[in-house]
Amino acid sequence: MDPVKVNKICCIGAGYVGGPTCAVIAVKCPHIIVTIVDLNEMRINAWNSPDYKLPIYEPGLEAVVREARGRNLFFSTDVDKAIEEADLIFVSVNTPTKKSGVGAGSAADLNYVERATRRIATVANSSKIVVEKSTVPCRTAESMRTILEANSKPNCRFDILSNPEFLAEGTAISDLYNPDRVLIGSLQTPEGKAASDALVSVYANWVPTERILTVGLWSSELSKLAANAMLAQRISSINALSAICEATGANIDEVAHAIGFDSRVGPKFLKASVGFGGSCFQKDILNLVYLSESCHLPEVAAYWRQVVEMNEYQKRRFSKRVVDTLFNTITDKRIAVLGFAFKADTGDTRESAAITLIRDFQSERALINIYDPQVVHSQIWTDLQEASPQVPLDAIKKQVTICSSALEACKDAEAVVIATEWKEFLDIDWEAVYENMNKPAFVFDGRLLVDAEKLRKIGFKVTTIGRPTTP
Ligand code: UDX
Ligand code: UDX
Repeated sequence: MDPVKVNKICCIGAGYVGGPTCAVIAVKCPHIIVTIVDLNEMRINAWNSPDYKLPIYEPGLEAVVREARGRNLFFSTDVDKAIEEADLIFVSVNTPTKKSGVGAGSAADLNYVERATRRIATVANSSKIVVEKSTVPCRTAESMRTILEANSKPNCRFDILSNPEFLAEGTAISDLYNPDRVLIGSLQTPEGKAASDALVSVYANWVPTERILTVGLWSSELSKLAANAMLAQRISSINALSAICEATGANIDEVAHAIGFDSRVGPKFLKASVGFGGSCFQKDILNLVYLSESCHLPEVAAYWRQVVEMNEYQKRRFSKRVVDTLFNTITDKRIAVLGFAFKADTGDTRESAAITLIRDFQSERALINIYDPQVVHSQIWTDLQEASPQVPLDAIKKQVTICSSALEACKDAEAVVIATEWKEFLDIDWEAVYENMNKPAFVFDGRLLVDAEKLRKIGFKVTTIGRPTTP
């Protein structure tokens, strides 16, 4: 088979994955025209904004867009034109957990993927390589192929690849510049392998070839779910141990350090926390649970489900610890929540542990001040409304205030809760915070971020995840 030359790439979905990934491809492959399309006009306008007010916050992203936009990188709402012109199309639309119907609460909603696939079949007048970038259940490529083949025009052939994205938010650009690996799955037919080679040739512009792994389609699809499930499982394991530490007097940081020194385990992803969040971990594990159940493997399903249940338990346990420590009631007490994003260096709030904590504090009738350096205020209101659909937004706004600095959020509070590990929380003038708080002044560190001893010297009563409460 002749290798296919990729001259034009289209990416459907200008979100957290499609946007940064294809912007980096454009920077690294100046000979390829990359067009990122999205149905959401506001998002596209933001990607095109003259002052680079991009729709997502990601360190280093602006520089990437500045370099390539208008040269070989374009953002557009004209989905059909971009599909028609491209040789290779990334499908990077969102695949949320289904909210109703069969598999509600665990299966992935593939409606957007199907819509995008049907659009490709309708619009394409020439052969295309279609690449699943979105995380999808195992064997989705087969459904995509059936749809494409049933609706294609004569002389159009479609080859489907799976190329899951492993970037983490907050470090997306460096992950894309220097990935641990790029995974490409294809059918093991001559045509499938030729399509795979074409995508390999794109990444080979900057990724060492030994890091580009080519595998079968189903292995590639499953590897993405498995990779996220194993990362999340590590966090749930360390969080489960953090509960034992609190009960026994051990220190979770010391335990993690000791475990991580074993080169077989390694030190990364062993930070106990108030719970993992983000758009992927929970969704992908639930997806794996659904897949296991569909394959009549209930024990396997139960094993993975426990990772999510442990995460829910960790969040519940933390908010209970706050209430217990504040003399068993937080009614009418002001709690400052520092951080709302699901992790530092992102403005993304999907599945953020902060949302659950604040909902718990609301139901205890506390007053809550929130400060986050990146999350836009409208997003906070949307999330809080979604978390308590039965409470009118006006009532939520009576209980919750969004502040523009950590100092402002902590004023007149009884307690400070650190929900996201933003570095700037380390540099807060904690003496000033202490002065302005009601006494006794409590700090609850859900991220193992601050120096508890230093804060205790100022006068704070500090509670840290994974450490016993000291008087
Ligand atoms: C991605 C993946 O695609 C998802 O499967 C993975 O698990 C997480 O990361 P992400 O980029 O984070 O999703 O999602 P999002 O930021 O919501 O972006 C998706 C974009 O696709 C949105 O901007 C949406 O408007 C767009 N979209 C959706 C379309 O353009 N067409 C559609 O039919 C549906
Ligand atoms: C994750 C995967 O890391 C990435 O490979 C995949 O492509 C998408 O899903 P992301 O969700 O962006 O990336 O962030 P990640 O850094 O993995 O963090 C996820 C959550 O786990 C965050 O809430 C984070 O705070 C938490 N976490 C992470 C911990 O609580 N402890 C840790 O040690 C690491």
